[in-house]
Amino acid sequence: MTTSTSSSWPSRIKSIAVYLVIPYIIGYLFSHGYLSEYFEQYLPTVGGGNGGNKRSLLSSSSDSPTPHQQAAPPSLAPQKCDLHFRNLLKVAEETFATFQNVSFVVHRNGDATSCGRSDMGERFVLELKKNYEALGNGVCLPQLNKYQVESILTKTFQDVLSNNDCHSVEKYGNKSKGFLGFCDGGKEHTPILLDHNDLVPVTSAKGEKSLPCRFHSREGLRVTKLDELTEMAKRPCGADDISANCHVAKNGLKEIHLYAVPAGRVFMFAPSHVGEIFYLPHVSGAMDKPIYLEVLNLEPRVFDVFNFFSREESKELVDRAIAETKESHRIKRSTTGAQSKSVNSRRTSESGFDTHGKTAVKVKKRCFKALGFDEYWESHGDGLQILRYNVSKAYNSHLDWIEDKTGQLEHDYESGGTGGNRFATILMYMSDLGPEDGGETVFPKAWPPTVPEADRIDQKQAIEQLRASPYGNVLEKGSWEEQLVASCRTRLSIRPHSSRAVLFYSQYPNGEVDPASIHGACPVLNKQKYAANLWVWNTPRTGYSGSPIKEKFRNKQSSEEAASPSVSFLKVNAQFVNSGKDESMSNAVLYYEDQFWGNLGSNDPPMAVNTYEGHIWNIKVGDEVKKTIVINEKDGESQVFSI
Ligand SMILES: *[C@@H]1O[C@H](CO)[C@@H](O)[C@H](O)[C@H]1NC(C)=O
Ligand SMILES: *[C@@H]1O[C@H](CO)[C@@H](O)[C@H](O)[C@H]1NC(C)=O
Ligand SMILES: *[C@@H]1O[C@H](CO)[C@@H](O)[C@H](O)[C@H]1NC(C)=O
Repeated sequence: MTTSTSSSWPSRIKSIAVYLVIPYIIGYLFSHGYLSEYFEQYLPTVGGGNGGNKRSLLSSSSDSPTPHQQAAPPSLAPQKCDLHFRNLLKVAEETFATFQNVSFVVHRNGDATSCGRSDMGERFVLELKKNYEALGNGVCLPQLNKYQVESILTKTFQDVLSNNDCHSVEKYGNKSKGFLGFCDGGKEHTPILLDHNDLVPVTSAKGEKSLPCRFHSREGLRVTKLDELTEMAKRPCGADDISANCHVAKNGLKEIHLYAVPAGRVFMFAPSHVGEIFYLPHVSGAMDKPIYLEVLNLEPRVFDVFNFFSREESKELVDRAIAETKESHRIKRSTTGAQSKSVNSRRTSESGFDTHGKTAVKVKKRCFKALGFDEYWESHGDGLQILRYNVSKAYNSHLDWIEDKTGQLEHDYESGGTGGNRFATILMYMSDLGPEDGGETVFPKAWPPTVPEADRIDQKQAIEQLRASPYGNVLEKGSWEEQLVASCRTRLSIRPHSSRAVLFYSQYPNGEVDPASIHGACPVLNKQKYAANLWVWNTPRTGYSGSPIKEKFRNKQSSEEAASPSVSFLKVNAQFVNSGKDESMSNAVLYYEDQFWGNLGSNDPPMAVNTYEGHIWNIKVGDEVKKTIVINEKDGESQVFSI
């Protein structure tokens, strides 16, 4: 989405319309100066004031323009919000007994060991209610968006965790700030993601504001609504193997494990042992069977992925790749490096990109879901790369994490700081290769999980075995390819078969590169190997809007921005009220142009929206437009429309 400052009047209105889908409360907070000051510190590249904030809101919300009904009558305060809160949790009883025997257990992102817990589920929920009320600041919010949910969860955990060890480590954040210091890693360690300005800061007991965490289940599902907690509390534990997020501890408490992800970071699975299984029932695959992960190795984190894609999808991808003729996308000799210009003698495979094929897009979206993203962010992924390895072809061991060797690139690749780089790779095999055929993916820093230590062979023995085998003459003796086979036969290596996938991480949960994630593609000794991989980034990738730029290049950008003409439009806080005086309006409904906005009947609460001059609001009864309201700048920043 481009900035909305330069387009002509009608299209401008359209583009602003997207802004309207942002829940009212965000706008409410902005208009009251709650967020904007704080975030300007974290957003040095975005022009200050409303313009900057507006733009990033636009870019983050455009993917899912669902209208929310916004009903928040500020005049009703102060009142107790019991009913609203119970509605949000979807619990009927006033005592929150649903949470009686529930224990909330917190983990740091990627950490199988928990760092703190709250064993009194009801107390936790009461504390959560307090923070919900504080967030509304006198208003009983009828809806919470996911950022608000995350904010009050963060605050509540900060308040109630016992055995609280959930502070940041080393240089990441401020250890003495406890959980809040973990969630907000500070300016130096917080990449600015596309939805950064949507985050709702948490206020500490000392009155300091900080960024909230996100919370995921062990399987990566992001908690975006309060009633998901109720669901977790109610779900019978151990009734099926799929709900592995739930454990009954020795004391009879049912544990709900939540994995806290600091602002600006991305979720990572937290394996505890080789062979551990993670079912992902929330990710629908191509088959009836549920997708699941099996841990192959802990350091680096490598997972076998089952039922991830089908043979049909595999065939579609290969056929399309072979048929592709476009120079930028067709299968040809692979290149390496940040600028993708150099042919590397240690990478002899051929590859092409499938960015927009139907199957490719479907598979990419599935990858994001499996990785714990609750939204698909095109800018966080490369195209699906389709790889072909003919006999003898290979790719020597390397990292997928891109190293900025010269330091001359504008993109900030330092993912441990505020930069962005590849953090996860999902590799899909699309050919069946036998044990002697080669073509495995090897992790030279990891051992094969199924070979007892006493049975491991050394590299020399491996080469002897290769030379004595039927394919002993495929590779030149003493070549790097032959050396690589020695690794493949002694270290963790994964044999391709159609519809098998592998997931591994190139970063630690704190964003720093994981050097142990080094891996290679073993030479194919027989047949041919097709594979596809998706690299997923922890920020928008190079060249995309919102991708991190090194500080020394930032000034250049902002001066370019300053040079472009900007038009300022007045934002209006409008309120629509049904006074009840006009009986024909008793079932009125509010529309933004033709888009349903919310009920405005005589029993409905007033509806507040952020809107702009020139916007058209319709009041309908049935199909008939009873009244049209055009927002007029002259009437000021705050306008009330009563019917
Ligand atoms: C909690 O545990 C107690 C003691 O085992 C039991 O009596 C009570 O019914 C449980 N509450 C819920 C909501 O399951
Ligand atoms: C860490 O936080 C504490 C408490 O807010 C504060 O007193 C201290 O100065 C902070 N330390 C650093 C290095 O920012
Ligand atoms: C690999 O094999 C395919 C046939 O499957 C062929 O078209 C292609 O040219 C071969 N690539 C190389 C580099 O030999």
